Amino acid sequence: MTRTLTISLLAATACLGVAGVAMADPTTDELVIDGQEMITRAPAPEGHPFDEVLSGWLFREPETRATEADSFENPGMLAVEHGGEVWNTVEGTAGKSCASCHGDASESMKMVGASFPKWDAATNKPIDVEMQINHCREKNMGAEPYKFDAGDQKDLTAYIKHQALGTPVHMDLSQGDMQGWWQKGKDLYYTRTGQLNLSCASCHEANMGKFIRADHLSQGQVNGFPTYRFNTGGMVSIMNRFRGCLRDTRGEFPAAFSDDLLALEVYVTWRGTGLSVETPAVRQ
Ligand code: HEC
Ligand code: HEC
Repeated sequence: MTRTLTISLLAATACLGVAGVAMADPTTDELVIDGQEMITRAPAPEGHPFDEVLSGWLFREPETRATEADSFENPGMLAVEHGGEVWNTVEGTAGKSCASCHGDASESMKMVGASFPKWDAATNKPIDVEMQINHCREKNMGAEPYKFDAGDQKDLTAYIKHQALGTPVHMDLSQGDMQGWWQKGKDLYYTRTGQLNLSCASCHEANMGKFIRADHLSQGQVNGFPTYRFNTGGMVSIMNRFRGCLRDTRGEFPAAFSDDLLALEVYVTWRGTGLSVETPAVRQ
C-alpha cells in the first residue's frame, strides 16, 4: 500500500518536474556541534553530477536537526560512549584490546572516519572501518570477527568515526585499484533494480529535494554514519542503509560485506567529498 504510494508519488513528481508541489529547499541553517562548525555544503569534486554536495542534515525536520546539534541530546552519543568502552576491552587469545596497540583513539583514529574506505594491499581491495575492525580482531587480537551489524561493531565504528568529527571527507582514490571500485560503485548507483525499476540516482539525484511521503529526499550522503534513527531507535550502518533503500525498490539486495555494497560505499563516500564527518548523525 505505502509502496504503491511511493511509486505513484515518484511518477507524479517526475511528471511535474521542477514545478512539482512536493518540493522544498534544504535549510540554510548552520550546523554547529560542540562549538565546532560543520561543513554541510561543499563544492562538488570534478565529475560530480551536482555543483554542490549537501549534508543530509539540511533536509531533516527542525527537531531532528536540533537533536544532532546537541551532543547531550543526541542518543547516538550513547553508542559512541559504549564504543569507547569496547575500544578498551581486552578480548581474544592475544590478550589485547584495541587500545593496547592504538592507544588514544583521539590521536590514532583522528583521520580514519574521513579517509575510509581506503585501499588494502593485503586483500587487494578496499577496506571500510567495519572490515578493518574485523581484520584487527582476527589477525591482531585472536578474537572472532563481528557478525554484520552486531551492536558492538556499530558502536565501535561510531566511536572511531566520531574521532574525525568536523573533518572533511577526502578519500584517496589514487591507491591500488580504487578507481576501478569507484567505477563499479558508480555503475551500481545508476542501475535500475527491483519491481519499481529505480536506481539510487532515481531518488537521490533526479528527485533530490522532493518528498516521498514525509521523507524529504536528500543526496543520500554517508558522512554521518553510523547514524541514530528515531524510527528504529538504534544505530544504522552504511551497508544496512543501502540494503534498506534497495529493499524499498522491491529488489534483491546484496549480502553484507559483499563487493557490491563495498563498491557502492566507495562511490557514495566520494559523492560526499568535502562534507564534515558528522558521526553520529541523527535521522528520522
Ligand atoms: C596487536 C596490535 C593491534 C590490535 C590489538 C588492534 N590493531 Fe588495529 N591495526 C594494527 C596494525 C598493525 C594496523 C595497520 C596494518 C594492518 O591493517 O594490519 C592496524 C590498523 C588499524 C586501523 C586502520 C588505521 C589507519 O589509519 O589506516 C584501524 C581503524 C584499526 N586498526 C582499528 C582497530 C580496532 C578497532 C581494534 C580493536 C577491535 C584494533 N585495531 C586492534 C594493530 C592492531
Ligand atoms: C525509492 C527511493 C529511494 C531509492 C531508490 C534509494 N533511496 Fe536512499 N533514501 C531514500 C529515502 C526516502 C531516504 C531518507 C531521506 C533521505 O535522506 O533522503 C534515503 C536515505 C538514504 C541514505 C541516508 C542519508 C543520510 O543523510 O542519512 C543513504 C546513504 C542512501 N539513502 C543511499 C542510497 C543508495 C546507495 C541507494 C541505491 C542503492 C538508494 N539510497 C536508493 C529513498 C531511496
